[in-house]
Amino acid sequence: MDFLEIMRKRYSVRQYTGRKVERENLEKLLEAARVAPTAANRQPQRLIVVESAAGLEKLKRAAKTFDAPLAIIVCADHDESWKRPCDRQDSAYVDASIVTDHLMLEAASLELGSVWVMNFNPETVKAEFNIPSRIEPVSILMIGYPDAKNPAPEKKNRKPLSETVAYEGYGK
Ligand SMILES: Cc1cc2nc3c(=O)[nH]c(=O)nc-3n(C[C@H](O)[C@H](O)[C@H](O)COP(=O)(O)O)c2cc1C
Repeated sequence: MDFLEIMRKRYSVRQYTGRKVERENLEKLLEAARVAPTAANRQPQRLIVVESAAGLEKLKRAAKTFDAPLAIIVCADHDESWKRPCDRQDSAYVDASIVTDHLMLEAASLELGSVWVMNFNPETVKAEFNIPSRIEPVSILMIGYPDAKNPAPEKKNRKPLSETVAYEGYGK
């Protein structure tokens, strides 16, 4: 499938079958995360793969997991992320988000469903998964096979380009 078509068809999956994600597909997902671009190529991302029943139970204490069989907690190491010299703006969140998007789009290309979860308690995640203080969990991607009983939404509710794109200056 054409890449744009994959992006158009992807949607947030919040109901999954019980089918586990095969090791081969997990490896492809992790490779997609590995090749993601990061500021100054610092690669501050740290990924925690959670697929055991015990791990997924622990995750439920911090976030809605939608009973997906696989979660990848995408963290960023603030000691490794690039800081913009003029104002010390930290690239950590951007880098981790790009990694998450790579995971999400690779999942879509493998016909896996996923949903990006930001609504989690970071302190609980840190405590449950022994994450040191300099490492920040930025996003959790829940992944699995979409439950066919809940079909993809008919259309994407997106703003037209005229509302989000300007040429040559803001608002023009
Ligand atoms: C940064 C970010 C955070 C999100 N956090 C959550 C979340 O905590 N829970 C959730 O159910 N969906 C979450 N989503 C999914 C969005 O709600 C969803 O992508 C958006 O409504 C567009 O729908 P679509 O993914 O089906 O195209 C998040 C998405 C992004 C990009």
